[in-house]
Amino acid sequence: MNAIGKGFPPGARFVRVMCTGRIEPEFVLRGFRSGADGVVIFGCHLGDCHYRGGNYAALRRFYLLRKVLGQFGIEEGRLRMEWVSSCEPAKLVDALNSMVETVKDLGPLRSGETEEGCSWPG
Ligand code: FES
Repeated sequence: MNAIGKGFPPGARFVRVMCTGRIEPEFVLRGFRSGADGVVIFGCHLGDCHYRGGNYAALRRFYLLRKVLGQFGIEEGRLRMEWVSSCEPAKLVDALNSMVETVKDLGPLRSGETEEGCSWPG
């Protein structure tokens, strides 16, 4: 059994894209609106993006998105960005488990609130 098979947090869900540069802020907002208590964006190490600068673009969006989330009262710890290569599965698992611990400490994002009752942008 590899590192990923041993240690994925059971609540983790994955949305795979070809490059972090492809991640629109809407993808992250949709994750939170769909009930996620936290979102982790995993990307290639800076300088290793196969599409050259996708991870730099994603990093800029990440900082902007964290500020926007703060406007809605969402703690910045609920959104994280990690650089992990395909040969670092243990690092990926560790980052996921660390995020789970952070989210547990923060508590549920919207307990009992339905999407209809949500005041999020749309
Ligand atoms: S290919 Fe662009 S971040 Fe991995």
